[in-house]
Amino acid sequence: MKNTTLALILISVFLWVSCTTQKRNHMAKTDKKVNELIAQMTLEEKIGQLVQKNGDSFSDSLVRSGGLGSVLNLVNVDEINRIQAIAVEESRLGIPILFARDVIHGFKTIMPIPLGQAASWNPQLIRKGAEIASIEARSSGIRWTFAPMIDVTRDPRWGRIAESFGEDPYLTSVLAKASVEGYQGDNLAHKNALVACAKHLAAYGAAEAGRDYHTVTLPENELRDVYLPPFKAAVDAQAGTFMNAFNEINGIPATGHELLLRQILRGEWSYDGMVVSDWSSVQQMVVHGYATDEKDAALKAIHAGVDMEMASTCYENYLIELVEEGLVSETLIDEAVANILRLKYRMGLFDNPYTNPSDYPELVNDTHRMVSKESAKESLVLLKNNSELLPLTTDIKSVAIIGPLADQPHDQMGTWVFDGDKSYSITPLQSLKSFLGNKRVNYAPGMEISRTMHKRGFDAAIKAARQSEVVLLFIGEESILSGESHCRADISLPGIQSDLIQAIAATGKPIVGIVLAGRPLTFEKEAEFLDAIIYAWHPGTMAGPAIQDILFGFDAPSGKLPVTFPRTVGQIPLYYAQKNSGKPASDETWERMYDIPVEAPQLSVGNTNHYIDYGFRPWFPFGFGLTYTTFEYSDVSVESGTYNLGDSIRFSAVITNTGKFEAKETAQLYIRDLVGSRTRPVKELKAFSKVNIKPGESRKIEFLVSTDQLGFHNQQMKYVTEPGEFKAGIGGNSDVELTLDFKIN
Ligand code: NOJ
Repeated sequence: MKNTTLALILISVFLWVSCTTQKRNHMAKTDKKVNELIAQMTLEEKIGQLVQKNGDSFSDSLVRSGGLGSVLNLVNVDEINRIQAIAVEESRLGIPILFARDVIHGFKTIMPIPLGQAASWNPQLIRKGAEIASIEARSSGIRWTFAPMIDVTRDPRWGRIAESFGEDPYLTSVLAKASVEGYQGDNLAHKNALVACAKHLAAYGAAEAGRDYHTVTLPENELRDVYLPPFKAAVDAQAGTFMNAFNEINGIPATGHELLLRQILRGEWSYDGMVVSDWSSVQQMVVHGYATDEKDAALKAIHAGVDMEMASTCYENYLIELVEEGLVSETLIDEAVANILRLKYRMGLFDNPYTNPSDYPELVNDTHRMVSKESAKESLVLLKNNSELLPLTTDIKSVAIIGPLADQPHDQMGTWVFDGDKSYSITPLQSLKSFLGNKRVNYAPGMEISRTMHKRGFDAAIKAARQSEVVLLFIGEESILSGESHCRADISLPGIQSDLIQAIAATGKPIVGIVLAGRPLTFEKEAEFLDAIIYAWHPGTMAGPAIQDILFGFDAPSGKLPVTFPRTVGQIPLYYAQKNSGKPASDETWERMYDIPVEAPQLSVGNTNHYIDYGFRPWFPFGFGLTYTTFEYSDVSVESGTYNLGDSIRFSAVITNTGKFEAKETAQLYIRDLVGSRTRPVKELKAFSKVNIKPGESRKIEFLVSTDQLGFHNQQMKYVTEPGEFKAGIGGNSDVELTLDFKIN
């Protein structure tokens, strides 16, 4: 027995050593090729590699001269192959071009917006979605996607929250890894792999007041503890590229941020991939007031560590001059070129520069649609279900389908669908009509779009409601109201949707509100009129069939919010991992505005950190989501009361399905470090697990957390786990009580 174990250990060690040696040899070979190529390149050809241009703004002769490293936004495979042939066969050194595109949540088969995908808390689904996007994009000649966007954000006003995985560093890190692995697979040179781009380094989601591109003021410890972990996860998952952010951080534009791009990314994290700027962000350093002119911008960006310039032409126009003047060393240029060429070798671009579409399956095929449907289904969050209105019975006699988003094949795809084609979308109306038959469906949208300001459609909608057993009310915001540069200061329901809801509620019919939106919306008052609410985000191509399955109980909802829902916009930023403050609010201390006596003395009551009008709680907490059954948590425990630094801490709980429906539950582990040399959040998500449980069944779940995961950046900016007392809790959302105590020595 002992001998067998020893033999197994020896074999494993041997395999590990030979694997690592093989990998190292391979890397050394690639570096050798890169260096040999660089040695043959003129300065002009080197700088050419650092240039990325839009599909419509370069000439064949630029490609022929070796003056172009990458192209974005070309999707015609014949044109891509034609340009590639010029680069490979007609340029002096034959270096292939890297073709890029924003393939953010699907190429032709559109998955839910990333915020919706995050609501699934299902990394496997996110990986599959990215895999499908890769296969479809690759068939069009695209080799590089600008995804995943892994900016943590705690501001639903920010339009790009739609494109994010939400407010939490841990959840975002797990999903970042899944996404990178989905795009790239385990071999960048595989015909299905798309090079990923972790973006935007960094803190883009912390823009002041949720206005896109706006100023970010952030202490370095918060930057490191909250905004950077997903990027570290992307490095660990071997993301081929990174993109710097548009914003400044504490006065320094991310494009010129040496701390971020050199010290942290290249230094602390040993990243050897490639960094691309965001669109014209090099030139924008002039607009920021950080560079005197484009030449100065080029100087600052190359020094900071931006390898490739997207769209603007500072590198192309000024790097030669800067080298000649001795302000930029050729070694620095060589480093940037090496980062780019290394990637081109790793992804097999030199060996396989062309795309043969017949190597790929049909776009939007049944398998792809199935994954899109699963992803959409798991992204739906049930926020309310009074009197168990849902699921509906399939023998229902009639349903009214009302609302501006019931039949919008374009809007259901969400933001960032450059290549999305609405003709593939199945809308809720189409799906429900074919499922229930035309006769059982009374359709009257009430409003043409979510921003409609007149009531001309109301009468027909009221009539449809009166004729039906139940109303399905599709409300929310169109896709163009979220996404890049589409921020909103008021995140309530646009147009006269509030009036529509009240008019329909006046019929007395039960209403299911299905909300399609790119962000959390504030509609607490309107929600009073809705008996059930499904938050659907923008669910993608398969919105209709996914929503239908949940409405009729073919599957139970399992989505959980990846972001806190505020009651009103004035509460933002509002997130679960807040600090306690010296005067934490509670229900007892909350002094309600309308209860305050006239001319009450200033410091009479309730001196805690709450609003007198809205209190201190969110509308729905992070991690929240109902389903058609109930889950009970029991035996929540931690294995021991005391640990040493370096130990793994084992937590467990038993979850019992106490209702009648088979459903999935996402159990979440939250931990609080009670005292730190810097104050710590009141709760931090440290692990989660999504499990399927049958009615009456109990499942034991276990979480293993290393003490290293409980660290933070101290006053010396060192990542440390400090010995002391901790509390923990396991439950179905971030409101869970932390009942477990343990200590780290
Ligand atoms: C600007 C966006 O910020 C970035 O995310 C995107 O990848 C580029 N434009 C390219 O379209």
